[in-house]
Amino acid sequence: MSDQSLVTLTGITKSFGAVRSLQGVDLTLAPGEVLGLVGDNGAGKSTLMKVLAGAIQHDTGQITIDGRDVRFASPADARRERIGIVYQDLALCDTLDVASNLFLGREPRKGPFIDRKAMHHRAAQTLSELHVRVKSTYQEIGQLSGGQRQAVAIARAVSFQPRVLILDEPTAALAVAEVRQVLKMIRDVAAQGVGVILITHRLQDLFEVCDRITVMYEGRSVEDRAVADLDIETLVAMITRSNAEEAA
Ligand SMILES: Nc1ncnc2c1ncn2[C@@H]1O[C@H](COP(=O)(O)OP(=O)(O)OP(=O)(O)O)[C@@H](O)[C@H]1O
Ligand SMILES: [Mg+2]
Repeated sequence: MSDQSLVTLTGITKSFGAVRSLQGVDLTLAPGEVLGLVGDNGAGKSTLMKVLAGAIQHDTGQITIDGRDVRFASPADARRERIGIVYQDLALCDTLDVASNLFLGREPRKGPFIDRKAMHHRAAQTLSELHVRVKSTYQEIGQLSGGQRQAVAIARAVSFQPRVLILDEPTAALAVAEVRQVLKMIRDVAAQGVGVILITHRLQDLFEVCDRITVMYEGRSVEDRAVADLDIETLVAMITRSNAEEAA
């Protein structure tokens, strides 16, 4: 971890009508760090990450990137700051092939036409750099396994060269070997200096890849600890606040 934090969120609040989803959240992320973001269903994790990715706008609080205060009016603003996000529903297009999904909206062109050969070549290169194995970049996304789809979605986000990569429940629906692959990708990406934020309910995954864990509870950040100082029982207690009097 470096001294200079890459992302600092301070006192972030967000209400949807009467629902106070975020009630003051603090979070920091350093370059090359893998931060686990945990909390019960409805704690506000996805909402917080949508704020950081520019998909929704917060009410009060501060977002600082590399020491600069920023405010994102749209996902494009966040992308310009090289913040990438993979949503749980992945947003891939089932009827398109792997390469088309990787480059959707920014396909290499030859004059007015998509340069398919170049696109598939670059797709194969990107996937191999990330150790993602698919039979062919011509395969339709709908034919891939859950793990392969997740890997392609992460590869797409990585191909934008993010400084911050947010993954919302990337392993929830995966088989054991597929989980291994995604966790390895996370480590590889972080090793290149990218700050990764990982949301998951699979606590054992956190102990494999994370440096630090931030716990949210009912719209607030309530704990921030190095993984080395945690065990699963303590983490569960922090998430459920079963030792609330002790934690207070
Ligand atoms: N667009 C919205 N309109 C109204 N309420 C919302 C909206 N988005 C989120 N919420 C509410 O904000 C709270 C936090 O939701 P969020 O999806 O951030 O939780 P989460 O921590 O990601 O939970 P999970 O682990 O179940 O994914 C919930 O009470 C949810 O119903
Ligand atoms: Mg969520």
